[in-house]
Amino acid sequence: MENQKKLSDRQFEKFCQLVKNRLGISLGAAKRDHLQSKVSKLMRESNITCYDKYYELVNIGRGTHWTSFVDYVTIHKTNFFREDNHFNFLRDKFKNIVNLNPRIIRNKEIKVWSSACSTGDEAYTIAMVLKEYIPPDIRIKILATDVSSLVIKEAQQAQYVLDSEDIINPYFLQKYFNKFGNIYKITDEIINLVTFRTFNLMHPFPFRDNFDIIFCRNVMIYFDIPTQEKLVRKFYEVLTPGGLLLIGHSESLNQRQYKFKYLQPTIYIKSD
Ligand SMILES: C[S@@+](CC[C@H](N)C(=O)[O-])C[C@H]1O[C@@H](n2cnc3c(N)ncnc32)[C@H](O)[C@@H]1O
Repeated sequence: MENQKKLSDRQFEKFCQLVKNRLGISLGAAKRDHLQSKVSKLMRESNITCYDKYYELVNIGRGTHWTSFVDYVTIHKTNFFREDNHFNFLRDKFKNIVNLNPRIIRNKEIKVWSSACSTGDEAYTIAMVLKEYIPPDIRIKILATDVSSLVIKEAQQAQYVLDSEDIINPYFLQKYFNKFGNIYKITDEIINLVTFRTFNLMHPFPFRDNFDIIFCRNVMIYFDIPTQEKLVRKFYEVLTPGGLLLIGHSESLNQRQYKFKYLQPTIYIKSD
């Protein structure tokens, strides 16, 4: 078939549908250039010249073409201590959290899910804050997942070049990172609190146990309202009673019919 320079309207629409159906992400016309450049790059790397052929390979939904497509169309912007009111909340309100959710004290365990964790900055920030501020006899278990296996690999390496948006106070930097040149490596005591897995939030949740806190930040902005609603209902099912859902600052559950109760901006509690 022809070697096209640009995606046709029909081809763009097919890729948008695929991204929406499999990842929940609504690309919209504004993302046409983004998709065009990512697809062209991936096709070049695989010596594929035909968009329709490439689409068929990606549409299989597994294998190397699918994996690298997911890695490149998803947006991974993240930082340590991003939107730090959530971490201040964990630090300052731990007593309130356990009052609302006595399971934590009963089981001497807190289970947190960083559900779109990108390169792990969010999960490691949660781990450092809990390690520092909650009683030491409470076991900390953090599951961190993302649909992109590329970022999960990076997260597991736990090595970072920090930028101006990583606002880490010097005490945490000194205590929980080891510096090698311009690389900051997370200490093992923090790494050991986090388990990373590749997981697509559009899939049924396979978890046996309930979580005490779920972070789902800065990913629902890419989903349309029905997709967000379905996902928030799934989160409700896997939270323990009194458990918390923390969402991104530009996200909101307002004016929708959820069983979650509003605690404060971007923080919701499961209450019956
Ligand atoms: C902008 S980052 C946000 C990272 C972090 N939560 C934060 O707020 O800093 C969004 C992440 O969501 C992931 N993502 C997008 N669609 C997803 C899906 N369907 N399932 C799981 N993760 C997804 C992307 O791969 C990306 O790493």
